[in-house]
Amino acid sequence: APPFSEPVASTSPSAADATGGGAAWAEPPVLASEDGFLELDLTAAPTQVEVAGGTAIMLAYNGSVPGPTLHLSPGDTLRVRLTNALDEPTNLHTHGLQVSPLADGDNPFISIEPRQSFDYVIVIDPDHPHGVFWYHPHHHGTVADQVFGGLYGAIVIDRDDWSQRAPRVAVVSDVTLVDGGVATVSAAERRQGRLGEAVLVNGLLAPDLATAPGATERLLLINACASRYLDLDPGGATVRVRGIDGGTFDSPRDGSRLLLAPGNRADLEIDMVDAPVTLTARAHGIGSMGMGMMSAGVEPDDALLLTLVPDARADTPVPVPPASFRPRDLREADVDARRTLSFTMAMGGGGMRFLIDGEEFDATRIDQQADVGTVEEWTLRNRTMMDHPFHLHVWPMQLMEADGIDLRDVVDVPAGEDVVVRIGFDRVPGTTVYHCHVLDHEDLGMMGVIDVA
Ligand code: C2O
Ligand code: CU
Repeated sequence: APPFSEPVASTSPSAADATGGGAAWAEPPVLASEDGFLELDLTAAPTQVEVAGGTAIMLAYNGSVPGPTLHLSPGDTLRVRLTNALDEPTNLHTHGLQVSPLADGDNPFISIEPRQSFDYVIVIDPDHPHGVFWYHPHHHGTVADQVFGGLYGAIVIDRDDWSQRAPRVAVVSDVTLVDGGVATVSAAERRQGRLGEAVLVNGLLAPDLATAPGATERLLLINACASRYLDLDPGGATVRVRGIDGGTFDSPRDGSRLLLAPGNRADLEIDMVDAPVTLTARAHGIGSMGMGMMSAGVEPDDALLLTLVPDARADTPVPVPPASFRPRDLREADVDARRTLSFTMAMGGGGMRFLIDGEEFDATRIDQQADVGTVEEWTLRNRTMMDHPFHLHVWPMQLMEADGIDLRDVVDVPAGEDVVVRIGFDRVPGTTVYHCHVLDHEDLGMMGVIDVA
């Protein structure tokens, strides 16, 4: 395919016709663990990749955007030798995995310089929940550029037996492609959280997934966009949500409208009928900075993500048994400590500063200290005029305003609102971070350090 000469834009929902007509469905290469181990070399490098029906130079893991999908089971050990062939530092974060953040684990403080490698060893507990997770770089100051550039991939933790057909993975990302490469973004776009003009699924524009009529398709969907919220709309189709992030609901919930903040994932079941089913991401803005500052750059727009096209020749998906993992419900009586984290913005230092509790990120400062084995209730207080999706590494957060147990690792905190979560610091001790998952805001300072000991 030729490199792009014109900017590439998302497919608008009206483009979906009765036959779909988009690109054929494809998924990134899969690497699965064997006998309890998955060892891989991962190289991050600028690469000419096939994307959106053409070719462009993007940042890629092992030459593909998205990078390989990793299939793991509870109890496995993941060994990754990450080689940095970029021209700036990078590192690796296994987003949502409840694994040690220390030493060579899921440690966001590691810096791998250009032309250097680092060996990660990530041990997954035998009782780790099943679900869909992902990996991406986490080097402070470059995260948004590197993720927007193409560095992301799926991690699926599921049953030990992969011989039955594994669930389908849809990695949703957005990017602006011009002149055969990824567009640079302005300072104003960074403050607003950049949006790409093309919304991609597994690197494709609006692919068609052939599905047997009458079957129930299962889709693990990842919002890997640097800043874009996905307000999912399945038209009139019947969609159930089995779980969000690493959490699995007691029973599937209605998915006729589902908001996924950057970083969130959803485990979806879609009932196929005799007509195509389109999954659209409706435009969802995050507000503005206020203070008379105009947002700049791309405005959110409706985008067609994918079409499930009925096809009698398609394999009938294997029905999935309900999840057996039952998270502990963190009740009022379990709460050992409470704290409030406030998100603010302020002018200073030559631009807009994005702050938590009045501070910009400083890797040498510990902002919160919690005792291992305790339960805390956190009030996430958004004092700004923009929404901020709050992400805590390692320990999932239980949403208090929810029906039943709803565990997430990214919690949307709308402009001007408070969101209350409970956290059980019961798995692994260590020092790691929490931050806004509008990755530009993280790079601009909206991140803190937590030490759990
Ligand atoms: Cu997906 Cu700290 O990030
Ligand atoms: Cu933010």
